[in-house]
Amino acid sequence: MPIQDSNDRYGTVSRVLHWGMALLLVWQFLSAGAHALLSDTAVEEFFWGTHKPLGFLLFVLIILRALWALINLSRRPPSVSLAARLGHLAFYALLLGIPAFALLRQYGGGKPFEPFGIPLMGGLGGEEIEWMQVPANLFHGWAGWLLLLMIVGHIVMVARHRKAADQTDVLPRMWG
Ligand code: HEM
Ligand code: HEM
Repeated sequence: MPIQDSNDRYGTVSRVLHWGMALLLVWQFLSAGAHALLSDTAVEEFFWGTHKPLGFLLFVLIILRALWALINLSRRPPSVSLAARLGHLAFYALLLGIPAFALLRQYGGGKPFEPFGIPLMGGLGGEEIEWMQVPANLFHGWAGWLLLLMIVGHIVMVARHRKAADQTDVLPRMWG
């Protein structure tokens, strides 16, 4: 399996990033779901502690994935339609924007933040920066649920392309 993408299939790096992030996102939505629906239960306590560090990891991974996509832009399998191209672009926008603004809110909240023991934010010593918290307070949850909705749509579209005789089966580009 070639490391880089080609016109008819995604290479190893793109596949590892795609499926690895898909698995991590399942966990991220379990923690978000537990926070939304099962607050103050043992389930929330189990999952919620991982939400911020995992969100940070997803942020690092989407930056690497976007850079890899740019490097491979001229060799990637062509989008099957304008809708598919825009849908994939929207994934990148949401996967960058959702954690980026959450991290900005985290910084503005003024408390230290050490995902996986990495001293990313030292805290502001009791200070808070209001404007940094506004975008995520307004949109973080909604944008997160929109992302989940789009993932469901993405899976449905892959299945439809696979079934319909007059459409390109795109699954072999990313799997197998
Ligand atoms: C791709 C990454 C992320 C996704 C998909 C995501 C998704 C979500 C979703 C769907 C909710 C709503 C839960 C509810 O309705 O109660 C939520 C809440 C929350 N997330 Fe994230 N999140 C991500 C990254 C982060 C990061 C990096 C941080 C902080 C460093 C963070 C902090 C929070 C906090 C504090 C809440 C509760 C307050 C709120 O709803 O805005 N998230 N997240
Ligand atoms: C869970 C979160 C998921 C996200 C955020 C996501 C996102 C993306 C993105 C952005 C692409 C474009 C290629 C790239 O830049 O990597 C893509 C391609 C693809 N995804 Fe996903 N995906 C997810 C899950 C899945 C699942 C569960 C399936 C299985 C049905 C799937 C099947 C595919 C296929 C077959 C392609 C190639 C499509 C084509 O070449 O037109 N994805 N995905």
